[in-house]
Amino acid sequence: MVSIKKPDEKKRLAVFCSGNGSNFKALHKRIREKHLPCDIVLCLSNNSQCGAMTYARENNIDAVHLSTKTHPIAQDYTNAMLRKLQQHRIDLILLAGYMKKIPNDVIKAYPKKILNIHPSLLPKFGGEGMFGLHVHQAVVAAKEPESGATVHFVDADYDTGEVILQRRVPVLPDDSPESLAERVLAVEHQLYADALEKILSEA
Ligand code: GRF
Repeated sequence: MVSIKKPDEKKRLAVFCSGNGSNFKALHKRIREKHLPCDIVLCLSNNSQCGAMTYARENNIDAVHLSTKTHPIAQDYTNAMLRKLQQHRIDLILLAGYMKKIPNDVIKAYPKKILNIHPSLLPKFGGEGMFGLHVHQAVVAAKEPESGATVHFVDADYDTGEVILQRRVPVLPDDSPESLAERVLAVEHQLYADALEKILSEA
């Protein structure tokens, strides 16, 4: 049966995480504080014990563990992901520190409905292998005067989808990759929530 959504209905969000989930928590906080017209109803992770999954369980958000361990066959894994998203009638997917590639069938099923946050000024310091501290190490090694964060739509490649919002962060002369990561992460928390608000206002 086709479900027909009324325009004033809240958007149903899924967040995909692999780690601590500080961006997930910041998004959740903004949604509650500003009463944004959306609900995070699903947290999907390849790591059942990560901070994001614990937070989801504590906040009555369905915490779903999907990985190559739970589904060793690639197509089963993809189908399980699609099924979960459909069961929850997900409108938007927010990748927040999710370390796995999204299967192409999922990207095709959710065109311009999947967002990601990356801790650099894309297209600089993006692409395969550019994640976590690797990004900040590369920025410091290149002696860049500034770095930043980017929220973008997800397409079939790594970090190449259309940019939604970007914010700059200065690189200080004595920055280590760790100190830069910390300063960029604080900006990410604001930026991702701002990008979500932008997308919701345009929907
Ligand atoms: C963030 O730096 C994000 O840009 C990157 O992974 C990190 C996730 O951190 N994709 P957290 O799990 O949200 O704390």
